[in-house]
Amino acid sequence: MKFQAIKGVRDILPPESALWNRVEQAARAVFESFGFGEIRLPIFEQTELFARSIGAETDVVSKEMFTFRARVNPAGTEDDIETESWEREGVAFTDRLELLTLRPEATASVCRAYIEHGMQMLPGDVKLYYIGPMFRRERPQKGRYRQFYQIGAEVLGASDNPRIDADVLEMLMMFLERLQLSGAKLYLNSIGCKNCRPVYVEKLREALRKVNDKLGADSQRRIETNPLRVLDSKLPEEQEIIETLPRISEHLCAECRQHFADLLAQLALRGIAYELNWRLVRGLDYYMRTTFEITAPGLGSQDAICGGGRYDGLVELLGGPPTKGIGFAIGTDRLILSLQKAEASEAGSAFAKASADKLDVFLVWFGAAAYPAAAKLARRLRSEGLRVELPADEMKFKKSLSLADRLGARHAVIIGEDELAAGAYSVKKLADGTQQKLKEEELIAYLRRG
Ligand code: HAM
Repeated sequence: MKFQAIKGVRDILPPESALWNRVEQAARAVFESFGFGEIRLPIFEQTELFARSIGAETDVVSKEMFTFRARVNPAGTEDDIETESWEREGVAFTDRLELLTLRPEATASVCRAYIEHGMQMLPGDVKLYYIGPMFRRERPQKGRYRQFYQIGAEVLGASDNPRIDADVLEMLMMFLERLQLSGAKLYLNSIGCKNCRPVYVEKLREALRKVNDKLGADSQRRIETNPLRVLDSKLPEEQEIIETLPRISEHLCAECRQHFADLLAQLALRGIAYELNWRLVRGLDYYMRTTFEITAPGLGSQDAICGGGRYDGLVELLGGPPTKGIGFAIGTDRLILSLQKAEASEAGSAFAKASADKLDVFLVWFGAAAYPAAAKLARRLRSEGLRVELPADEMKFKKSLSLADRLGARHAVIIGEDELAAGAYSVKKLADGTQQKLKEEELIAYLRRG
């Protein structure tokens, strides 16, 4: 039997994983400079947490969650809980059965943690970021996986000041700049609040009913279940009709209109470029007012590398105190794909290129007497922060150099009888073949210079 990773999940191997680490490192540095701290969340939660936060009618909850029934021990006392009894060595056990789900996103978990730890008592806004895998049973294709990764951040607190929205967007754009990702585009919208949105949704529904027979089956169904999602449609034959539908911007209440106008002014103040997109409604139910997405080049149809928005009221919906919230999640898989595409092209992201380098020194040693000296030198070079490969088996000179070359080493350092006698090492630059003899301190200074 041959085992393979299951459909839609994959391994991330070196050297690509080095780029992932650098991207995550950059996110930590930028987010921490804005006062965010890392939250490490569980991979699975009660199904109900996601159903209630994201919305039962959404694609994520209705079709895409990995949900399983698990036996939780002990059973507890509530009698409406499903249980399963079993026996071992004459002793009877009763386990409670719970529906659990692999997290499809992390905003719900962050809100759950906020409530669970009473974070509303903390001084100032609570600013948290997370990095890790999410799970959705979508149809796999390039840039769409069943286990994918997100780098996300959330701000929870008492204020819904649009300056917070602008700060979050500034942080996001600063992170993408740090990666030298070119061609990223920020799309922005306001989808109103619980006062003005229902009025708009009803108007939209009425307008959609009138064009019902010109729409595809999915959109027809959504007229009743979730008409906003019709605006998301990519079907070419629906585009012209969608352009004629009523737009949310014309139906925002005075507060939402002001909030959005203030946000745009804040973005201008920070020099952040954006494009308005009235059709940007997002696929999760918890959003209100500000919504946004970022696209990047080179990704084909799955080109959204980030999505986010404001979700005032979600904490309350989950049983917590009145709280405002805003955040985003970057799809790391897609971000990396876009960086790799850029690296392969002329323009090339230096950020991605730097990650491709992986070995500073390959040590070539001859004779049993040379090995202890090579091991000692390897230890010294590594403690200096250099990346060093020390082969365990002695090899012919030509074979060593060819392996060093194939491993992408920048230098070969040679230790044989001559070098041991002279107390100096031969160092060969593999790019041009130049060679010189250097004493240990000189060698370190030379390698450090690159
Ligand atoms: P989302 O738009 O569902 O938002 O996902 C955010 C990003 O995750 C997407 O833009 C995309 O890059 C990536 N992504 C989603 N599904 C997949 C997939 N199957 N394969 C690869 N990448 C994927 C959220 O998850 C919200 N929790 C974001 C948020 C945080 N809103 C407020 N705070």
